[in-house]
Amino acid sequence: MKTKITEMLGIEHPIIQGGMHYVGFAELAAAVSNAGGLGIITGLTQKTPADLANEIARCKDMTDKPIGVNVTFLPIVNTPDYPAIIKAIIKGGVKVVETAGNNPSKVLPYLKDAGIKVIHKCTSVRHALKAQSIGCDAASIDGFECGGHPGEDDIPNMILLPRAADELEIPFVSSGGQADGRSLVASLAMGAEGMNMGTRFIATKEAPVHENVKQAIVNASELDTRLVMRSLRNTERVMNNTAVENLLEKEKELGDKLTFEDIIEEVAGVYPRIMMEGDMDAGAWSCGMVAGLINDIPTVQELIDRIMLEADEIITDRLSGIVGRD
Ligand SMILES: Cc1cc2nc3c(=O)[nH]c(=O)nc-3n(C[C@H](O)[C@H](O)[C@H](O)COP(=O)(O)O)c2cc1C
Repeated sequence: MKTKITEMLGIEHPIIQGGMHYVGFAELAAAVSNAGGLGIITGLTQKTPADLANEIARCKDMTDKPIGVNVTFLPIVNTPDYPAIIKAIIKGGVKVVETAGNNPSKVLPYLKDAGIKVIHKCTSVRHALKAQSIGCDAASIDGFECGGHPGEDDIPNMILLPRAADELEIPFVSSGGQADGRSLVASLAMGAEGMNMGTRFIATKEAPVHENVKQAIVNASELDTRLVMRSLRNTERVMNNTAVENLLEKEKELGDKLTFEDIIEEVAGVYPRIMMEGDMDAGAWSCGMVAGLINDIPTVQELIDRIMLEADEIITDRLSGIVGRD
């Protein structure tokens, strides 16, 4: 399949693996790139820029295909050394950067000078237009369904994608709620040039996380995520568990008086315990509603091949049949 995104990124299939904290390590990124998509290492999961440089090198040992790095700008307690992170990315010969969280204007000139394509992930048309105006090459449009931070507008992709298509000149991919060939064809129909997936890629053989995490996604339905931290304007869609229920109870009790300190136990530093040790009640971890569409743990290659085959069948058999052109 050839789209503006496959052409821009030099990849075979229009499928991107979004940055994921404590999931987007070299193993997963390389597996996605080797299967013809774009694999992305999560920059901030690496403790130092030197660690990120090592992770990039490790990934490049596992694939000679293009890889990306996610650089997230989020309100976190200790601001990371972004200039050094950008240097590690440029020196590592990375071809694509996925920015997210905040406007990447400060780092953009350095990335552009190095010939790196920048995809800005955002949750609204106005943020995508801003990304376009400052020179980002593409946008990743993260709908309300998404795992992680859906923003505060609550617009699902059925509306957000066609709205983006109406307004944007740069190419964009859908993100949030994407899982299979149906998702890909629907995304293309709504004007996207491909799709970005997070949660679906966690439930794969190569995702370097504890089996409990993969199984939790397979066991979950579309009803099993919750939104937390809304009153802090840092809304996150997470898998429900006992820690999340505690957190929601505190939110209900404290209302607008809630501060980050009140919920620190449920949200700060919990990822290693969940993703590495499989302690599924250790805290809140991002997960999309798309869990309801995930019923197996294939290899990344099997998943991507299946998506492309299904998309092809939908377009050439089902849809062509409907319009009578088969
Ligand atoms: C466990 C997990 C961790 C994530 N961590 C990040 C992150 O660090 N930075 C980021 O930009 N997006 C992060 N995301 C969001 C994904 O990159 C992607 O945008 C999102 O998962 C898409 O929605 P989906 O899960 O419905 O596919 C995370 C998502 C998950 C599920």
